[in-house]
Amino acid sequence: MLETVIVALWVMIPAYVPNSLAVVAGGGKPIDGGEKIGERRVLGDGKTWRGTVVGTVGGVSTALILNQLVPMVKDLGFEVEPFTLYVAFGLAFGSMLGDICASFLKRRTGRERGSSFILVDQLDFVAGSLILSFILDSGWITDILGLMSLAVILVLTPIIHVSANVIAYGLGLKKEPY
Ligand code: CTP
Ligand code: MG
Repeated sequence: MLETVIVALWVMIPAYVPNSLAVVAGGGKPIDGGEKIGERRVLGDGKTWRGTVVGTVGGVSTALILNQLVPMVKDLGFEVEPFTLYVAFGLAFGSMLGDICASFLKRRTGRERGSSFILVDQLDFVAGSLILSFILDSGWITDILGLMSLAVILVLTPIIHVSANVIAYGLGLKKEPY
């Protein structure tokens, strides 16, 4: 069980990092260019080009750094494998895409920027990263992650996400603690 949890969380690190980086790097031009659908913004000012690019590059870089640590983690007895570039990009960019889709959904359902959308906020990037990395390198994903790993990810991610956001809120990096 510990093995499953460690490997599952290890795989998700390049998907977790982009969101935190986007918060720090955010600002500048919004992706939707201020466009609206009806009364509401397509995505809103919370989704920017800079946040998305910095988050994606940061997530891929994180995966490449983790790859250097694979021999050490294997020595500890955990069966991790180096991320392929496809998987690294899929996890990092997929994470940003999932978050962007969630904002689209939030605006369409009348939720203002920064409002909370429980479970969607916590799992949008998990869905995006797993789906895109699966599309780009399904062999790698299915070799490393089983159904049990998926369950672990779905249960632990919201807990980790909320904890990280409470800390970011406490540090004054984020406007809301979710
Ligand atoms: N951010 C960004 N680009 C992204 C994602 C996030 O610039 N692709 C930055 C923005 O400054 C954003 C902050 O990170 O305000 C927090 O991200 P998030 O909570 O996802 O955005 P919200 O501002 O809460 O907006 P939304 O309601 O659309 O989620
Ligand atoms: Mg938010």
